[in-house]
Amino acid sequence: MRKKLICANWKMHKTPDEAELYLRAMIDWSISFKSNHESEVVIFPSQLCLETTSRILKDQKVQWGAQNIYSEVQGAFTGETSPKVLAQLGAQWALIGHSERRQIFKETDEMIAKKVAAAQSLQLSPLLCIGETLQQREYGQTFSILEQQLAEGLRLRKPGQSFSIAYEPVWAIGTGKVAQPQEAQDAHRMIRNWLLKNCGGEVALTTSILYGGSVKPDSAAQLNQQPDIDGFLVGGAALEADSFISIITNTLL
Ligand code: PGA
Repeated sequence: MRKKLICANWKMHKTPDEAELYLRAMIDWSISFKSNHESEVVIFPSQLCLETTSRILKDQKVQWGAQNIYSEVQGAFTGETSPKVLAQLGAQWALIGHSERRQIFKETDEMIAKKVAAAQSLQLSPLLCIGETLQQREYGQTFSILEQQLAEGLRLRKPGQSFSIAYEPVWAIGTGKVAQPQEAQDAHRMIRNWLLKNCGGEVALTTSILYGGSVKPDSAAQLNQQPDIDGFLVGGAALEADSFISIITNTLL
């Protein structure tokens, strides 16, 4: 069975003190929460809050990871984040290929493929983000863009090791324009079919495919009804612990 996965992407928000308050609220909540589903809750803090997160979430149910890693484990790469150090700090996850990395920081599919392989080589579970721009959608290119990002992004993956996918239409990120449930389901179904054809039945059945882009507690409840949506990657609405917890409970109860 596929896991439900609900992830918070803090982007470049929060100080270590704010992070600590938020994470303690998540721990308090997670102690009493019982889900009917197999599930994980994952926090992606900004880089300078990773150490605080590592300390506070040690031995807790709530998992965590970095919003970005470099594709080499160590070396002369000024300013980059080592996946080896991240793994040593106890992270379980690495977010890879977020559209802000692709668009603002010019990350290519080639770099993204290497990052997926680097994460897997250190037992960090990659959450690969893919998604079309508004113009690509209007030109009817959505599926071909997603296929290309999947093929390139997963090119160097290690067979037998798990990964997850976040479908995040670029036009929905931070805009308040959430995809309609059927629109999202169509993309998720296409992604699952692609996995079936290119990675096999086992991978297609067990890989969690998340939706991201302006998810709020209400839209999470609606999108969650779709058969191929296995959870969410949430930015703005996950910045407050209470709002993130509402999204989690609307997904898992
Ligand atoms: P948003 O961000 O929920 O604020 O749209 C989602 C993301 O960028 O992962």
